[in-house]
Amino acid sequence: MKTLIVVSGGDAPGINALIARYLRLATTNGDEVIGADGGFEGLLAGKIVTIDQSIVTLLAGRGGTVLASSRVPVLGEDRAQQKLREIIEQNEIDKILLFGGDGTLRHVLPLLNDWGIPCIGLPTTIDNDVAGTDYTLGHHSACNFALQSIDGVLATAHALPGRIFMVETLGGNTGYLALAIAYAAGAQTVLVPEYELSLEWLGQRLKETTTRDGYALVVLSEGVSIIPQLEEAIPRLTGIRLRYTRLGHAQRGGDVSHFDRVVAHEMSRLAYTGFKDNVQIGTIIMQSGQLSLFEGKLSGEIKAPPDLDQYKFINEL
Ligand code: F6P
Repeated sequence: MKTLIVVSGGDAPGINALIARYLRLATTNGDEVIGADGGFEGLLAGKIVTIDQSIVTLLAGRGGTVLASSRVPVLGEDRAQQKLREIIEQNEIDKILLFGGDGTLRHVLPLLNDWGIPCIGLPTTIDNDVAGTDYTLGHHSACNFALQSIDGVLATAHALPGRIFMVETLGGNTGYLALAIAYAAGAQTVLVPEYELSLEWLGQRLKETTTRDGYALVVLSEGVSIIPQLEEAIPRLTGIRLRYTRLGHAQRGGDVSHFDRVVAHEMSRLAYTGFKDNVQIGTIIMQSGQLSLFEGKLSGEIKAPPDLDQYKFINEL
């Protein structure tokens, strides 16, 4: 059996760990593994590489990915699709292990499968926004990265009271990541794109919490529409100094948490045994804390919005 590994879309902590485990499992059983260097764009350019077991094992605890990814949507045209099929045939690839977010799993996975290539998808994004699974690899590590930064912010917030702190997370146009972080950090306010709030409400809330607690901590997702106005409006509405921290891409490339290493290990095992059992198309999903191989195409559904009760609890306490 010869597996091609492709990483598509945004990288996430845990990809290296999963590649390391899958590679060891496959080679120990006499199977071959190769990788696309640069996602589908790299693959179309013929960039196929072997993966060094010792290097990927060494990097298992680090963010990023030894197999470069790409976000370029190269498979839209018939010509590109034809070329990709030729590359797959020429390299005698039997199975494709595909890392990616919602778009990749919903569109590229079925396309590959329509060509008769067995493929298994691995939901990987720090955003945790893939419908059909409760969890995407990397989310937990990204939360941990944010919490470490927030602990630093809280230390200075307590030391020098009377300030408002805003910590902006990644998350694209979704708020799953920000909400998970805000809840764990004990933030008094969380802002997410799915439930927008007015500046007036925010000003009032920040004044109240600063008076009550000595500081205010707001965790907000990068997709919130009022962000451009915040730095001017908050001090004006509250009369309180504002300090703004953007976690940015550092949050995506942080170290891999214990949980994500376990998830990566388990995902690699489920994917490998799925291929061995001749699964034609599937995705490794988590439901109620259990990882499993979902066989078939993921439905076209959209993930339910972030937990409203949790959101209200943070903003009302
Ligand atoms: O992969 C998801 C994500 O990290 C989002 O949280 C973020 O908005 C986006 O990717 C950033 O993408 P890029 O790396 O292309 O700037």
